[in-house]
Amino acid sequence: MQINRKKAKLKHFFTFLFFSFNAVDSTIPNAKLSKVWGPGLVPHNIVMPARYFFIQGVDEHNNSISSSLEKEFDIIIEGKTEQDKPCRIWSNILDRKDGSLIVRYKVYDTCSSVIISIKHKNQHVAESPYKIDEKIYSDECNCPQKSLTHLLDLWECPEIPKQILNDFNVFDNKINWNELRPKIVSQFDKPHSVSLCHYIIKNNKLYRKCYGKYVGFHMFSDSILLSLIRKATIPDLEFFVNLGDWPLSLKDMPEKYPIFSWCGSTESNDIIMPTYELTEASLENMGRVMLDMLSVQGNVEALWDKREAKLFWRGRDSNRHRLNLISLSREFPELFNVSLTNFFFYRDEEDVYGPKTDHVSFFRFFDYKYQLAIDGTVAAYRMPFLLAGGSLVFKPQSKYYEHFYGDLEANTHYIPVKTDLSDLVEKINWAKSHDNEAKVIAQNGQKFVNENLLPKHIFCYHMHLLNQLSKVIVSEVNILNDMELVNQKKDIPCSCLGANQKDEL
Ligand SMILES: *[C@@H]1O[C@H](CO)[C@@H](O)[C@H](O)[C@H]1NC(C)=O
Ligand SMILES: *[C@@H]1O[C@H](CO)[C@@H](O)[C@H](O)[C@H]1NC(C)=O
Repeated sequence: MQINRKKAKLKHFFTFLFFSFNAVDSTIPNAKLSKVWGPGLVPHNIVMPARYFFIQGVDEHNNSISSSLEKEFDIIIEGKTEQDKPCRIWSNILDRKDGSLIVRYKVYDTCSSVIISIKHKNQHVAESPYKIDEKIYSDECNCPQKSLTHLLDLWECPEIPKQILNDFNVFDNKINWNELRPKIVSQFDKPHSVSLCHYIIKNNKLYRKCYGKYVGFHMFSDSILLSLIRKATIPDLEFFVNLGDWPLSLKDMPEKYPIFSWCGSTESNDIIMPTYELTEASLENMGRVMLDMLSVQGNVEALWDKREAKLFWRGRDSNRHRLNLISLSREFPELFNVSLTNFFFYRDEEDVYGPKTDHVSFFRFFDYKYQLAIDGTVAAYRMPFLLAGGSLVFKPQSKYYEHFYGDLEANTHYIPVKTDLSDLVEKINWAKSHDNEAKVIAQNGQKFVNENLLPKHIFCYHMHLLNQLSKVIVSEVNILNDMELVNQKKDIPCSCLGANQKDEL
């Protein structure tokens, strides 16, 4: 008895030692070995509404830390205005709880002598302090001195996406608007069913004319175009943007119409842009939009191991298959926590598939391991946000797609399921019994987001799209009489660098 207690005590002592050493080793970052990277470290080259960079904690044995680092780093970003006052810079830190942090900051002035200082216990981390010699601008500055191709280089954008090349190939890389413009207008000027805007960029000014009864969504296409126009001299361009849910240029129509749309389909020839949700999330990062690719990662409550092994879903009744999901969950309540939040399309079936439940904060979706990217009227635009949250995404097959689906690999980044969900239960059960594999796929999905869908990538995609368009237009670009000039929202004074100099390219 006595001996046993002693043994137990001793064992406890060793366990204590073991764990405390372990804890020291794996949670305390080493300043020099920790890593810092991201576009926010070159704010003079990459002007964004919110600049951002990443910190990965690395311990003294050069192993990546995998637990929360919230309190470990002191980050100061400062600079001087042209009047020699402290710059107004607002920053915030998102803890991914996996040993890495996202640092975001917004710049409200034209600043010089900017220093980004990152310290751990008074020691500079990685290459900190990062000193920026050139002036840096607020995103609202209208300083388009660079050419679009120069901007693509400066931002170190990836190669032109295959999706863009494929989309333009459909038109043999030749667009003659003098032929196509009247045909598009006569085919699609259906005010009650089509919302379409015709845009011209001429001398780096934006002009538009919209067709349709509901064209309020032009604010989304306007804002990304105006943002690019503030950053670069865009070649003269002409194009049409579809503001509706469904792709317009159907393959069974008499002509192929090059129309930009937010959603693609295997049955249409539309040229895909990143969705307005993803684009707006990039433009309004740290602004009025709460939900973006970065905030999702910084607001999850728990990492994979602590998440409940159920499929969580909330949404409205915009697709028959969503009702089937409710039926399925009643058969297998141990696998699902799903409900409809609104009845509109199938109002008369609320008795069967209701009751509807309250809205749940998107961040709380990630209290659960499994997510479902099920179509509504078209592709579920929440797909990138679901991938960002680090849960395992199940994706029903669909003819609809977003700009990045072509780069996603089934069973690597997500789990494919049948459109009618008939194999969903089987696949959830697979995930439950293969937790490690499921976790790896979930992590791959999140990694994909960080390498392809962050605000910088969304800007790059739009730049490539416009740049490629400029190469294929064979007609002259002229403003039409009935077009309206779209002005920048604010006209803030910025003395742009090299305003009188020619672009170096
Ligand atoms: C730490 O590991 C990284 C790879 O993750 C390697 O590039 C680096 O050279 C290592 N540093 C030291 C000091 O061992
Ligand atoms: C379903 O999820 C919500 C939100 O997380 C939670 O409040 C509710 O208790 C869950 N229901 C069940 C049956 O677990």
